[in-house]
Amino acid sequence: AASDLGDYPHYMLKEIYDQPQAVRNALGGRLLPSEATVRLAGLTELGGFHPSRIKILACGTSWHAGLVGKTYFEELARIPTEVEYASEFRYRNAVIEPDTLVIAMSQSGETADTLAGLRESKRRGATPLGLVNVVGSTIARECGRGIYLRAGVEFGVAATKSFTNQLVTLLMLSIHFGRQRGMSIRQGLELLNALEELPTLMERTLELDSKIHAISEEFADADNFLYIGRALEYPIALEGALKLKEVSYIHAEGLPAAELKHGPIALITPEMPIVVTATQSFIREKVASNVQEIRARGGRIIVIVSEENHEFDRLADHVIAIPTADDLISPILATVPTQFLAYHLAVLRGCDVDQPRNLAKSVTVE
Ligand code: G6P
Repeated sequence: AASDLGDYPHYMLKEIYDQPQAVRNALGGRLLPSEATVRLAGLTELGGFHPSRIKILACGTSWHAGLVGKTYFEELARIPTEVEYASEFRYRNAVIEPDTLVIAMSQSGETADTLAGLRESKRRGATPLGLVNVVGSTIARECGRGIYLRAGVEFGVAATKSFTNQLVTLLMLSIHFGRQRGMSIRQGLELLNALEELPTLMERTLELDSKIHAISEEFADADNFLYIGRALEYPIALEGALKLKEVSYIHAEGLPAAELKHGPIALITPEMPIVVTATQSFIREKVASNVQEIRARGGRIIVIVSEENHEFDRLADHVIAIPTADDLISPILATVPTQFLAYHLAVLRGCDVDQPRNLAKSVTVE
């Protein structure tokens, strides 16, 4: 498989660059503009089942994607959604109603905790749906129906393109349920257009690689990082922090930006870099005022923002401008700079990015 690397020094970097094509593959043949919806073959297996609740079971990066899915399902389809760590769900007396759709989400399809959670939810009468990358994996088979992520093989232990394709797939699924539940043709078409543009916008986002490399050099000696964001970008902050921990071994924490003031703001000094993800226009001003509070306390600030926006220019030490997109899509793009940041910091610190210590690509023990 080494030949698959091409000119890339690591799988993680190659897989970051795979993302525009991975998204194209995820969308391929699934957008149905004539009906302002999507066509996901795995859903025909659901027949007339209409979920009144969704529960997403996942671990690690997949759990972060689930948090984005919760907002998509609630916002676009008005379906109350919960996201649970599969390892916690399985040992809780969880309530599963007959019309609960349980989504088991897993890149590998082999994670022991997710598999056990899926089995427990089935015993409790849930209708399962798999969102899995590896075709024919155990979770995919035991769900009996699902939507493959089509990210292609992911070798890097740190998930990158599979996370992106989870977000894209969750958005498609929420369009499907949304259109069954009153989403307008107009909104359906807008979202399909936004999805169709995503691979091109992602290609433009990849052009930030060298800029983020340069920024990373300034922070290579940091001991800690905070990642903050709001709404859909809170899970992006969690995922950015996880990526950094996994590959660079730098301690990092992801937080909802407005929660800083309830404790973590005590951590802010000039030694604490803060990565702010602020691409969603509806909440941007609120994030800016959160950032002002950090600035006043001397924190070093890196902001990821949409390129037409200059609100953070005098607040931040570094502004990473990504292409402007719909508020539901821009957080997907905003993930890419956090992947580059983790990758470059890890390489600068001499870490083995594709095989980080103590980690496995898929954890098949409880
Ligand atoms: C392992 C991997 C993580 C991954 C998690 C869930 O811990 O190191 O990168 O997010 O498992 O994996 P899954 O295959 O179920 O998505």
